[in-house]
Amino acid sequence: MKILVTGAAGFIGSKLSYMLAQRGNEVIGIDNINDYYDVRMKYGRLKECGITAPDNNFEWHKVYSSSRFEHLQFIRMGIEDRPQMEALFREHSFDKVVNLAAQAGVRYSIVNPYAYLESNLQGFLVLLECCRNFQVPHLIFASSSSVYGLNQKVPYQEEDQVDNPVSLYAATKKSNELMAHCYSKLYGFAVTGLRYFTVYGPWGRPDMAPMLFTKAIRAGEPIKIFNQGNLSRDFTYIDDIVEGTIRVIDCPPVAEECPNQIAYKIYNIGCSQPVQLMDFIHELEKNLQCEAVKEYLPMQPGDVYQTYADTHKLKTDTGYQPQVSLQEGIRRFVNWYLSEDNPLK
Ligand SMILES: NC(=O)c1ccc[n+]([C@@H]2O[C@H](COP(=O)([O-])OP(=O)(O)OC[C@H]3O[C@@H](n4cnc5c(N)ncnc54)[C@H](O)[C@@H]3O)[C@@H](O)[C@H]2O)c1
Repeated sequence: MKILVTGAAGFIGSKLSYMLAQRGNEVIGIDNINDYYDVRMKYGRLKECGITAPDNNFEWHKVYSSSRFEHLQFIRMGIEDRPQMEALFREHSFDKVVNLAAQAGVRYSIVNPYAYLESNLQGFLVLLECCRNFQVPHLIFASSSSVYGLNQKVPYQEEDQVDNPVSLYAATKKSNELMAHCYSKLYGFAVTGLRYFTVYGPWGRPDMAPMLFTKAIRAGEPIKIFNQGNLSRDFTYIDDIVEGTIRVIDCPPVAEECPNQIAYKIYNIGCSQPVQLMDFIHELEKNLQCEAVKEYLPMQPGDVYQTYADTHKLKTDTGYQPQVSLQEGIRRFVNWYLSEDNPLK
């Protein structure tokens, strides 16, 4: 099975590429290696996959082969680059395309909205067109729990109304779901959208709370706690997210079993155990053996109060069952953070 993974130098994409290659799939990973956050994280993750370049100078459009996995290759390219993407799809006959490349981050979409237009909308359209024109049987793409916006009813279910996004980021993810639905209907290929819920773990994103908090706690600097800490998140460990994603890759929707006979499914993928932000911080403090200096701030624009995934649908269809508890996940994360592997320590 030949799989294209976009966003392969990213937090989720690198681990997914690793796991797919490890189980013997042929994987082509692409990423533009942008500098939204410290690129040393991206180089480090690629290195874990056996992909390196002299002085980390990855040339655009050049193919890098993994020294760790025989069937893993990496190419630096942008998903919005139509001619290059078409050439890639023409050369390879992909069985699966997994789109994890995106401009991520809720707060940054207030600062730099145009980055979201280019990667999340334009780039996504190029991918859909390539899937259509090169007869890709199954597209899997990352949506987000942020599509639930300020929904009050928990746990969030896939069938809930999601027409009230509170950030441009969330609006682009909801748009992806709509665009993919219509491509699946028009051109008949299977599509699965995954609403990821706050992912954490080793090699996590430096713009997200676990990394920001850990860095600040160790430096004795204040951590910013929004809405006076009265927030909860369905924190989900990276290995569970990747395992669930692989189950979905192996389980394409079948038109006859879907509403309106369109081979299209959306799944929540989370831990289904929301954690109060203060409990998360206490767990970090315990593992770091250091108390955080806390700066309490009002609610941030674009943020939501809580996230909580109902994952029954994913469990029923694929057998997904998250394995890693918060205590274990934070223990593993802190161990990694303090190790020599962490380029930002
Ligand atoms: N991490 C989470 O908690 C979370 C939660 C919900 C949804 N998601 C979604 O999951 C996906 C992966 O998230 P992540 O946490 O690994 O983020 P990430 O930022 O670590 O990874 C995304 C990767 O995509 C690359 N990229 C961005 N724009 C690109 C473009 N136009 N062309 C090629 N590459 C591009 C970036 O360089 C980056 O390496 C994203 O779509 C994100 O929106 C993540």
